[in-house]
Amino acid sequence: MRVGAIPETLLERVATLAGLAPTPVVDTLHAVIVARAVVTATRLAVFDALADAPGEARSVAAALGLHAGALEKLLNLLVAAGYLRYGKAGYDLAPLARKWLVSDSPQSLHDSMLLRLLEWQAIDTTEDFVRTGKALDVHDIIAGGQWDTYQRGMRALARLTAEEVVRRVKLPAGATAMLDIGGGHGAYSVAFCRAHPDLRATILDLPPAVAAAAPVLAEERMGGRVVHRAGDALTEDFGTDAWDLIFIAQLVHHFDAPTNAALVAHAATALRPGGRVAILDVLRPRSPNQKGQTGALLDLYFALTSNAGTWSAEEIAGWLADAGLRPARPIHLRTAPGISVVTATRRT
Ligand SMILES: C[S@@+](CC[C@H](N)C(=O)[O-])C[C@H]1O[C@@H](n2cnc3c(N)ncnc32)[C@H](O)[C@@H]1O
Repeated sequence: MRVGAIPETLLERVATLAGLAPTPVVDTLHAVIVARAVVTATRLAVFDALADAPGEARSVAAALGLHAGALEKLLNLLVAAGYLRYGKAGYDLAPLARKWLVSDSPQSLHDSMLLRLLEWQAIDTTEDFVRTGKALDVHDIIAGGQWDTYQRGMRALARLTAEEVVRRVKLPAGATAMLDIGGGHGAYSVAFCRAHPDLRATILDLPPAVAAAAPVLAEERMGGRVVHRAGDALTEDFGTDAWDLIFIAQLVHHFDAPTNAALVAHAATALRPGGRVAILDVLRPRSPNQKGQTGALLDLYFALTSNAGTWSAEEIAGWLADAGLRPARPIHLRTAPGISVVTATRRT
């Protein structure tokens, strides 16, 4: 998936083909204004209000306590960006907003939109990072209530892929124990346990993450089948012959290669014979020319937020093989293009 200038009219199409379209302006100004508008409308409950009742800017502004004239500008941009429609009943949701941005839609990314402000704070440090090579540790800059926003935002994304992940990551027969390292909100553990009635899961995460994620997990009503353990994955003891599945989602991009190799080696010793490690992450393209902007974009983002970045399937499989496990072919998720799961099994 790539971000880019899409011509809307014949004239723009011709200008694009002739190399006359000022793409850098679209990339740096238009894209930012659309991004701000979508997040602002989410934060101000505009999409939820229009899901309840389409209307003119005046009535929506009155219902939400906003400025009607300013709201009208925002709504017009959202129509132009394809999120809303404008007709006889006034402004209404387009399918794009109804599916992804209404808070009670099954595929809702509402909570993910709320995470953008925290991410933009980090993205603002790009120039410093490129000058000095010094990254932030994103888990050190998250303050107080932002942990809740972070966990709910990550859960919204995990929910999109959890069903496919559970279907495609096979468990050994009779599996009863799963360790979800850096599992936070617990959406993956919950999905695995719902699909496998004999399975119980432990989510290991940093203490402030667990404090914020505990009420999020409680909403799933899994009781003692999915529990949290507060600790640091880099120092915590995972036990020996203890787990049928060790799941590590969106964590290895936070650590450098030696740290990941050590984490995977530690996980391998904690597996039961026949047990599996599954590492889910965005994969780094093998070369800058390879298609897949998401990998390159998040490689920079994760580098500046954690001094690491994304990893290629070969690098991840290398850590797994060095830990004595047998890696399988990566699973490329259809529900989240750009995200893959690399699995490996402990020999019986
Ligand atoms: C990007 S989130 C991923 C959450 C979840 N696994 C998912 O895929 O949606 C990274 C998670 O790793 C946790 N984490 C980061 N460093 C950690 C560490 N050293 N030990 C345990 N958890 C850690 C964070 O607190 C956070 O919950």
